[in-house]
Parts: sequence; C-alpha cells; structure tokens
Amino acid sequence: MTSELTFRGHETQPMADTYSPKPPKPWLAVTRPIRYILREQRLTFVLIGIAIATLGFTLLPSNQAPQRYSSAIFDSFPAELESSHLTHRPVYNERRFGIQNWNSGGKIPLGLKRKGKRIVVTGGAGFVGSHLVDRLMERGDSVIVVDNFFTGRKENVMHHFGNPRFEMIRHDVVEPLLLEVDQIYHLACPASPVHYKFNPVKTIKTNVVGTLNMLGLAKRVGARFLLTSTSEVYGDPLQHPQVETYWGNVNPIGVRSCYDEGKRTAETLTMDYHRGADVEVRIARIFNTYGPRMCIDDGRVVSNFVAQALRKEPMTVYGDGKQTRSFQYVSDLVEGLMRLMEGEHVGPFNLGNPGEFTMLELAKVVQETIDPDAKIEHRPNTEDDPHKRKPDITKAKEQLGWEPKVSLRKGLPLMVKDFRQRIFGDHKEGGSSTTA
Ligand SMILES: NC(=O)c1ccc[n+]([C@@H]2O[C@H](COP(=O)([O-])OP(=O)(O)OC[C@H]3O[C@@H](n4cnc5c(N)ncnc54)[C@H](O)[C@@H]3O)[C@@H](O)[C@H]2O)c1
Repeated sequence: MTSELTFRGHETQPMADTYSPKPPKPWLAVTRPIRYILREQRLTFVLIGIAIATLGFTLLPSNQAPQRYSSAIFDSFPAELESSHLTHRPVYNERRFGIQNWNSGGKIPLGLKRKGKRIVVTGGAGFVGSHLVDRLMERGDSVIVVDNFFTGRKENVMHHFGNPRFEMIRHDVVEPLLLEVDQIYHLACPASPVHYKFNPVKTIKTNVVGTLNMLGLAKRVGARFLLTSTSEVYGDPLQHPQVETYWGNVNPIGVRSCYDEGKRTAETLTMDYHRGADVEVRIARIFNTYGPRMCIDDGRVVSNFVAQALRKEPMTVYGDGKQTRSFQYVSDLVEGLMRLMEGEHVGPFNLGNPGEFTMLELAKVVQETIDPDAKIEHRPNTEDDPHKRKPDITKAKEQLGWEPKVSLRKGLPLMVKDFRQRIFGDHKEGGSSTTA
C-alpha cells in the first residue's frame, strides 16, 4: 500500500531495458510534463495563481489623476468624431513629455509621482489670472505667466517668485510667442470698461491678434486652449436668463464694441481653429466676477461701490439702479475654468452666479458690510450698458458638474478686507486669499 502511494514511476516511465519494436516517439517527451500537470491537478493551482495576480493588479490604487486624453485609443479616432464639439483629441505634448505618454492605461509604476502639466496663463498677473495661477501651482503644475502689465500687477503673483515651477514673461500677446506647453489659458485682455475703452484699437487687437497668436501657438505645440470670453457677447440681451445657444444683441459700432465684438471674434477664431486645424479648445463665457486683487477704481460696479464706501464717498449708481447683474466670487470661477479645461466639452459654457441683484440691492449689501451710513448718488446711464444679465448655468451644471458655492454676503467681506489693506496700507489682516 505504502509503495503504491510513493512510487508511481512504473506507470508512466518506460523501462529502459524493455524491448519495443516501435521507435520512441519524440512528442511523447514533450507532452509528458503536460500530462503530469493535468494528472497532479497543478493546472488548478496555476489558474488560481493567475486569478489572484490579476485581481491584485486591478485593485491596486492608481497614483495618477484619471487619464482623459492621452490614450492610444485617440490615435485612431474616427475623423467624423474629431470635428464634433463634444470630443477631444490627444495632446501632443502629453504624448511626448508626460509620464502619461508611455502609460496609456492610466497607472503609473509605483514610486513615480504624477508629473504636473506645463501651463501658460496669459493675463496671469491680473485679477482672475492670478487666482488661477495660485490653484495651478497648488496642484503641482509648472506655470508660465505671460502679461504686459497693462492692468495686471507683479504683486498679484509675487508670492510664487523663487518657485522653480513658476516663470513670468513680460510680453504683449499681440506679438507672437513660442513656448512648449500642454495647456494655454488665454485671459490676456483688459476686462473693465474703464480699461478697455482707454485704447479701443489696442483692445480689439488684443482680442483678435492676441487670440490668433495664442491659437497659433496651441496648434504648433499641440496644446489645449481655453478662451475666457464674456457675457458681453450677449450684448443687451433680449432673452433672460441667457443660455449659451442665444446669439446675442450686440451693437457693432458702439463704444463697448472693441470688447464685445472683439470677444465674439475671439470665439469665432477659437472655433475655426478647432474645426479647421484640429486644435483642442474650450470656451468660457464669464459673468461679473469679484474678489480680492480686483483693480481698485476700475469702474466695475462691485469694486466701485466697495472703494467708495471705504473712502466714505457716495456710491455711484448709473441710471435708476434697477438694472440687474449677477456676481460670482473668483474662487468659483477658477474652479469652473479648471473643470472646463480638464473636461471633455468644448463649450461655450456660461460661468457665473445666477443670483440676481439690482444695483440698488448690491449697494445695500455693501452698506451692510462696510458702512450702514454710506450714501448713494445717481448718475446718467452709460451708453450700451445692458439692462439685465443673468446666466443660465444648466449646461455647466450638467456637463462640468459645476455650480457656484460662495454667496455675495460671504464673498464680499473677503474682497473688502483686501481693498482695505490696499487703500489704507493696513497689512495687519493677512493676505488676499481666495478662500471663502
Ligand atoms: N472679471 C470679470 O468679471 C470678467 C468677466 C468677463 C470676462 N472676463 C475675462 O477674463 C479675463 C481676465 O479678466 P480680469 O478680470 O482678470 O481682468 P484684468 O484686467 O485684471 O486682467 C487682464 C490681464 O491681462 C493683461 N493684458 C491685457 N492686455 C494684454 C496684452 N495685450 N498682452 C498681455 N497681457 C495683457 C493685463 O495686464 C492683466 O494682467 C479677461 O479676458 C476678461 O475679458 C472677466
């Protein structure tokens, strides 16, 4: 009994001295290990081993942000889908330089960190741009700010000086520029009426030639391009609230046209580069935004009211004060811009806060926040000033999963704190953070 259990060789091993008239079959030697595996049920163990290993690799956490557009799949993207507004193409630089380039499965080998993107922010020394730069730096990206300092200030980004991931170039976007980048946030353009009316020809040049230059750069280096357009493309809207499909009611020859029509042309150029040159683009239509680092005295209603109330001057209300605006805190906008850039949809997307205030209601909130005795002074309305402005943000909610979170009563005190410091030189209260 014992010998049968321990020695089975005689069942399979041909006896060396046994005579056989047939020549030995060579394939028998090959199949012997297989027969052995089958008989001893080793195959079951091998299969269980493979299953455990597969499960282990599948469940291992990926240490990289979800891979969106560097997959090899896109190399064979059907041409008809490439022109669709809702699809996107691979970023050339990501394929060439990023870790993602050689790891299209979305996982990075253990021990290697996610490599940040290289991003240029035109107008990055301005109000919105500098807050965007803060968020990108925080995320670990390398950021290049391109700005001619027409309305922007070095102070807005000075806290990044010395960081090897941060660079700053004094440059006018009306002139061409070549940079190796993965993404371009194109914000360069004076945004307040006081500034864009100061030199209207320069404003429209910035919008048209500047945007052309940046789109040319995006095409050349395969970068994704995001245009910060404006609610002004709706002009004095005949539809309320404004949906992205509304084409607007704009005066092409008015004093604001350098900005309104300039931005409309910038949108046209952006879509033409997308359709005609396969550039990956995104378009944001920004509604009134406020927050720390806004230019003091730039003529925009929130900064005007806050600066006037702090200086104990009467707040200037144009017209009867019944025209409405929506006010978005800057951190909400930056979140929307980043979601748009990283997402899969071209847009355009309205980014704004749908909470609607009349100018008189806004003045009241400023009174509550700064000085209950602040006075209001009425002046005649300016030409082409739209009567109503309120974004419909359904599309951004559905496709970007975005909506503003900071109310006017929460965001305004943060702006007041920053303005107080800059107007009165009072540095006791801390920096101009975006956090609400
Ligand atoms: N803030 C808002 O409420 C709002 C609303 C709608 C649209 N936008 C858009 O968002 C973008 C940023 O607006 P913002 O409020 O930060 O304005 P901002 O004036 O604070 O910033 C604009 C920046 O662009 C720079 N710039 C202007 N012309 C340039 C040129 N030719 N070359 C290089 N740099 C140039 C300025 O120096 C400044 O740093 C603009 O494109 C604006 O049209 C803003």
